[in-house]
Amino acid sequence: MDDPSLPTTVPAFADTASAPAAPGDTLSSPIEHPAQFVAWLRNVAPYVHAHRGKTFVVAFNGELVEVGRLTALVQDVSLLHAMGIRIVLVHGSRPQVQAQLKLKGIEAHFEHGVRITDPAALECVKEAAGEIRLDIEAAFSQGLPNTPMANAKVRVVSGNFVTARPMGIINGTDFMHTGVVRKVDADAIKFTLANNAIVLLSPLGFSPTGEAFNLMLEDVAVSVASSVKADKLILIGEEDGVRDAAGELRPELSMVDAEKMLSTGDIDPADADDLRYLMRACKAGVARGHLLPIGLDGALLMELFTHSGVGTMLARENLESLREATADDVGGIIKLIEPLEADGTLVKRPREVIEREIDHFTVLEHDGFIFGCAALYPFPAAGMGELACLTVHAEYREYGDGERLMKRIESRAKALGLTRLFVLTTRTGHWFIKRGFAPASVDSLPIERLQLYNWQRRSQVLIKTL
Ligand SMILES: CC(C)(COP(=O)(O)OP(=O)(O)OC[C@H]1O[C@@H](n2cnc3c(N)ncnc32)[C@H](O)[C@@H]1OP(=O)(O)O)[C@@H](O)C(=O)NCCC(=O)NCCS
Repeated sequence: MDDPSLPTTVPAFADTASAPAAPGDTLSSPIEHPAQFVAWLRNVAPYVHAHRGKTFVVAFNGELVEVGRLTALVQDVSLLHAMGIRIVLVHGSRPQVQAQLKLKGIEAHFEHGVRITDPAALECVKEAAGEIRLDIEAAFSQGLPNTPMANAKVRVVSGNFVTARPMGIINGTDFMHTGVVRKVDADAIKFTLANNAIVLLSPLGFSPTGEAFNLMLEDVAVSVASSVKADKLILIGEEDGVRDAAGELRPELSMVDAEKMLSTGDIDPADADDLRYLMRACKAGVARGHLLPIGLDGALLMELFTHSGVGTMLARENLESLREATADDVGGIIKLIEPLEADGTLVKRPREVIEREIDHFTVLEHDGFIFGCAALYPFPAAGMGELACLTVHAEYREYGDGERLMKRIESRAKALGLTRLFVLTTRTGHWFIKRGFAPASVDSLPIERLQLYNWQRRSQVLIKTL
């Protein structure tokens, strides 16, 4: 490390699942397992590339501030910002408003869980929001050496981005200064994000008459995420994700799954509203909705940078797809196979070759990340096809994906009228034999392929009749 302004040490990782230093910890431990540290950082790289330039709306309730997790969240958000992710933060303030009301001896009124904001309550809402906003701005301004905020220099911008209207009188109840979002100034938010600032929003909106309205945190978050067409809406709340009626946490849900859970009642009632908010955002064009627990330190980082995540992710489309590759996948394929080319498991394929032959490839994609690939090279004259470059990312092996890719290549071969599939391998012979391939001599290869056979590599030839 040659920059003297950076910490000279980094946290030790006892295993790849351990979280970085807890908030307030200094980065003082030596690297105890250099190889694990490097492997861990490299495993995170695909997610860093995938999230760069994307827009995330992160909403958290006032309870997060109460339980003392604000500094940790701000540090994690600053890290995302440094990675080129555009962030809109929306904070809640319900417990802080309650505290203000109590302090002033004012009774709180709710109807169906919604606060009735009379003029006195509105003052408390403004005071609570102002206080939290200042705390957040202060937290983003930290920069002490030997903390995750060293060199951070994060700019935070708040403003009148949300126009509100009164909720009105419902069933005879006047909600007074409780409002709903009427419009979001998406252009101004996008402009601010493009200028490398984090946008910070309070659950307050303003009407053209110049009045302030108390808004639901989730309403602001969903409306903003929908209007700026965010890539992700992340709600951080008390629930640890969406659970079904049996109490099972559902790490990933499609829109179809979500609709089904709500229509059949197969959902923990505590999670139904949050799921509806996420669905509202996804229906309006947000690609992913996440529900994360405030109780877990680093939940945001774990959700965004690990395959399994920690809460629930709702996807507008199916998250995982096995599909034929397109030109956009070239970079992902290269990243996936590079380590295997380096250790000699796979033959080196220059980028131009992959670009030229991209139509031969099938890929496995999860949330924009290519974690598996295989290619089919047909030799129609011999009625044969070559299964090549079969790879599953080291982190995702042994879930049957290698076999799924192989089967897809088999059906592509059959569709071309080929009757036999062959593979050349130096290390994975047993895997193929277990799946119906049989050893064969090099002479069994189609003549054009035989001429290219690398006698130094001495790959084993295996053939399967389709
Ligand atoms: C081979 C490979 C694609 C399998 O991917 P995968 O998603 O783990 O495959 P599956 O989950 O379908 O199969 C896992 C099984 O294969 C076994 N396996 C993995 N690598 C193996 C190998 N080199 N030899 C024999 N068996 C192997 C696992 O132990 C597991 O066994 P089990 O089913 O008895 O538990 C993956 O290991 C890989 O990418 N390897 C490096 C690249 C390579 O060698 N490609 C083939 C050359 S073309």
